[in-house]
Amino acid sequence: MSSRTVIRGGLVITASDEIHADVLIEDGRIAALAASGTPAAEAFTAERSEMGAPPPEGWGRIIDATGKYVIPGGVDAHTHMEMPFGGTFAADTFETGTRAAAWGGTTTIVDFAVQSVGRTLREGLDAWHDKAEGNCAIDYAFHMIVSDVNPETLKEMDLLIEEGVTSFKQFMAYPGVFYSDDGQILRAMQRSAENGGLIMMHAENGIAIDVLVEQALARGERDPRYHGEVRKALLEAEATHRAIRLAQVAGAPLYVVHVSAQEALAELARARDEGLNVFGETCPQYLFLSTDNLAEPDFEGAKYVCSTPLRPKEHQAALWKGLRTNDLQVVSTDHCPFCFSGQKELGRGDFSKIPNGMPGVENRMDLLHQAVVDGHISRRRWIEIACATPARMFGMYPKKGTIAPGADADVVIYDPHAEQIMSADTHHMNVDYSAYEGKRTTGRVETVLSRGEPVITEREYTGRAGHGVYTPRSTCQYLN
Ligand code: URP
Ligand code: ZN
Ligand code: ZN
Ligand code: ZN
Repeated sequence: MSSRTVIRGGLVITASDEIHADVLIEDGRIAALAASGTPAAEAFTAERSEMGAPPPEGWGRIIDATGKYVIPGGVDAHTHMEMPFGGTFAADTFETGTRAAAWGGTTTIVDFAVQSVGRTLREGLDAWHDKAEGNCAIDYAFHMIVSDVNPETLKEMDLLIEEGVTSFKQFMAYPGVFYSDDGQILRAMQRSAENGGLIMMHAENGIAIDVLVEQALARGERDPRYHGEVRKALLEAEATHRAIRLAQVAGAPLYVVHVSAQEALAELARARDEGLNVFGETCPQYLFLSTDNLAEPDFEGAKYVCSTPLRPKEHQAALWKGLRTNDLQVVSTDHCPFCFSGQKELGRGDFSKIPNGMPGVENRMDLLHQAVVDGHISRRRWIEIACATPARMFGMYPKKGTIAPGADADVVIYDPHAEQIMSADTHHMNVDYSAYEGKRTTGRVETVLSRGEPVITEREYTGRAGHGVYTPRSTCQYLN
């Protein structure tokens, strides 16, 4: 028997429309939409029973979404489950991290497989498939971190694209670990100009930052807040500028990850005004948190150590503006959680040893809904930056990121009026603190479907590890 669900009476919001519609789901996909209360909507259930009678036993599931939003499941294009960093591993496994993502209304993640120096892309990708396969509650895909650009690696990029890994992250930071020099970056970009891949850039001048780190430590500046001071906004802007011009020389598109500095955003905006295919992502932590958090006493600031770093509050207005003007296109989490106890503590007395990264995969959809409530963005823009554009940017649209006939039935029933307080006591991420502890937000995920299967049902977890499958991607669908 085919499985059927009807979601009735909600406000269906996509990147382009807001309509009061019923949604028919068959066999894991959106089958049809019809304006609520019309004969076409009635027919979703009536056609399989007596006209006007309730549907027969076993017909399927009917979800009443009256007064709720019906939105596409979130697409988080930047997560690091179980990522090795600074001698430890990000605390969320694919199992715990994807479950937490579902709780927060995200139904697809794109995680970063890591090539270690001296190893092939293939070895890195296989290792990440092994971590994820059979463990995920929601669908997942991979980008590839390229740490070792050589002739073999460049050839392997073509093969990975055929397997649906169509985007490659390079680092201008972390010399000796993930770092690529300008020549290596240019070569990878030239290759991507030919094979359709998208280079994602961690844009910070890591060589200069390492000098400033050494000098800060020599002066006895050891607290977490110095992490923010040495990783200067100008060094993010300089690297962003350099990445843009290298991409221009190569004739390749570019996606700059975790943009936090207004000076870096200005470089992106300028390049886009020139008509270049350059794109930018920011993250909730840069929109809602600041260097004030990094300066929290008693080493609490370590909870907010990530790279690029949190910036002074003044940068937030520029980022919100960038999201409104489309100089920034995507909000991802860069979810890379390390427990305060035992992991962040590795850097007590030396900020440079604090593992870089913050938890957030569960919080993104709610924080961005709060941005709707606060008037920063519209409801449709919320869906665009959190669902539709990440799906398009990374070759998964319209399978993911929208509610339309033929799309995967990744759907969230969202209560826009429910109030919640974010807290480590109630979140589902495998980390011992919340970056938003005590923050009150309006709006809450009620029910989450992944390919038609209920993963969260009226705020209970009804999913299972292994439901989520690898999702091969096509190349970027968002070029100018
Ligand atoms: O601090 C961060 N962002 N950790 C994750 C790795 C990265 O650079 O994205
Ligand atoms: Zn990065
Ligand atoms: Zn512009
Ligand atoms: Zn990251």
